[in-house]
Amino acid sequence: MLTKVFAPAKVNLTLHVTGQRRDGYHLLDSLVAFADVGDRVSLRAADALSLEVTGPMAAGVPADETNLVWRAAALFDVPVAITLSKHLPAAAGIGGGSSDAAATLFAMADLTGDKVLPEGATDLGADVRVCLMRQAARMQGIGEQVAPIAGLPPLPAVLANPGVDVPTPAVFKALTDKSGKPMARKLPKWPGVKGAIDWIASQRNDLEPPAIATAPVISDVLADLAALPGARLARMSGSGATCFALFDTRDAADAAAARLAEAHPEWWVTPATLT
Ligand code: C5P
Repeated sequence: MLTKVFAPAKVNLTLHVTGQRRDGYHLLDSLVAFADVGDRVSLRAADALSLEVTGPMAAGVPADETNLVWRAAALFDVPVAITLSKHLPAAAGIGGGSSDAAATLFAMADLTGDKVLPEGATDLGADVRVCLMRQAARMQGIGEQVAPIAGLPPLPAVLANPGVDVPTPAVFKALTDKSGKPMARKLPKWPGVKGAIDWIASQRNDLEPPAIATAPVISDVLADLAALPGARLARMSGSGATCFALFDTRDAADAAAARLAEAHPEWWVTPATLT
C-alpha cells in the first residue's frame, strides 16, 4: 500500500523575536499560514528504510539520515521506502524540512495505525509542531506553543526565492535586537482579506535585517515583490530567503507572479493561496 501526504509550504506572516532562552533558542511570536504549494511524501512498507528524492527542487537535498524525512520515519519500528518529491526550495524559510517531517509522521501514523506520535517527533525541528497543525496558527515560545487561528481569510500571495541558502542558525546569530515587542495579546477579528492584510502589514519579521546582512539579495526580492501591481505588502518568511507579497485577489497574485517570473527567470516564483 502506498501512502501519500502533501507537505505544504509554511509561511510566517509575522515573526516577532521577543527574547532568548539561556540555552540560546529564541522566543518568538509568529502568525503562521500554509500554502497550496508544497512537497509530496509517499512511502510503502519495505525491508529496510530508504529515501529517494525527486522533483524539480531535488538538487542538493540529501537522501540519507541527515534528511528530516528519514529521521521522522526512523522513529517508527516499521521500515519503509520513501519518495520525497521536492517542489519547494530547501533551507528557505518556508518550512520545507519541518513540513516534510510532519508529512512523514502523518504517513507513518497512517501506515502503522499508531495513534500517538513517537517520542522525539516534535523535536525534529522547531517548526514541526506547527506543521503538524496544518492550519493558520499563532506560534509562541520557541515554537512549542501553537494555537490555531480562527477566521483568517484565505490570502492570495506570491512567493519568491532568489536561490541562496540561508542557514537559520547564521541568521539568529546575526540578530542584534532580541527584545522585540510581541504581537497584541488578542489578535483582530480578521475583517475580510483587505483588513487582514492591513493588520499583517502593521506587524514585522524581526529576522529580515539579519537575513539581509547574511544574504543582501533578499532586499532586492522584497523591493521587487513590493513593486508588483496590486502588492499590498512584501515580507520575508522565517529566516529567509523566501519572501512573499500579499494581494487582494488570486487573479492579481497570478498576474504578479507571472510578471516577476519573467523578470527573474533565475528565481523560484509561484502564486499561492495561504490558509
Ligand atoms: O530547530 P531548527 O532546526 O528549526 O532550528 C535551527 C537553528 O535555529 C537552531 O539550532 C537555533 O540556532 C536557531 N533557532 C533559534 N530559536 C528558535 C528556532 C531556531 O535560535 N526559536
